[in-house]
Amino acid sequence: MSRTFRIAPSILSANFAKLGQEVTDVIASGADIIHFDVMDNHYVPNLTIGPLVCESLRPVTDAFIDVHLMVKPVDRIIPDFAKAGANMITFHPEASEHIDRSLSLIRDSGCKAGLVFNPATPLHYLDHVMDKLDMILLMSVNPGFGGQKFIPETLNKIREVRQRIDASGRDIWLEVDGGVKVDNIAEVAQAGADVFVAGSAVFGAGKDADPHRYDSVLAALRAELAKVNG
Ligand code: DX5
Ligand code: ZN
Repeated sequence: MSRTFRIAPSILSANFAKLGQEVTDVIASGADIIHFDVMDNHYVPNLTIGPLVCESLRPVTDAFIDVHLMVKPVDRIIPDFAKAGANMITFHPEASEHIDRSLSLIRDSGCKAGLVFNPATPLHYLDHVMDKLDMILLMSVNPGFGGQKFIPETLNKIREVRQRIDASGRDIWLEVDGGVKVDNIAEVAQAGADVFVAGSAVFGAGKDADPHRYDSVLAALRAELAKVNG
């Protein structure tokens, strides 16, 4: 049976001076999801965008917005992102005092919910919350910056989480974030991921062409995924 693969460009690598257009272009070029990286200069050593930017993008696109919170604490900002039009909100378990409560808060706000694991974060955080998850996000770089190199050990972790999801019988997406490119996306999919964040690989590729300049890189990523499904 062929698996559903979703490509989620991270707007972290987009041109922020024309963000609405970047989002429209990347979706028109065939992206499935907009990955929205929120960094607070506290949980991670970088500062990016908040609910105001999500709210500004919402009227520009119908696309599914996947908000990746790299902030601490997490609970206070969750309702703001829900109101701003986020579809999915994920957070890092180490950044929440009460993981079950944060997951419920996300779902009660009307969004899908997910947990994010850094390369060295143990998977035991999954043990008692599988029924509250719509997605598990595995970081394949340490969070904070785009354009880093994929950490190969992540492949083992993807396999392990794929087994856990299959054993649970639940429809939980498995997303991988960091250093995903045309030359490794097939391997990541083979290991068991079904949602692929790509920031620099997508937005870095289209800089010099116009319009719909992301068509060719997205087609190349899809062609690699088709090999896994074929
Ligand atoms: C890192 C972010 C990622 C990052 C991915 O903290 O969560 O989403 O932007 O960028 P690339 O694909 O360039 O590694
Ligand atoms: Zn991310």
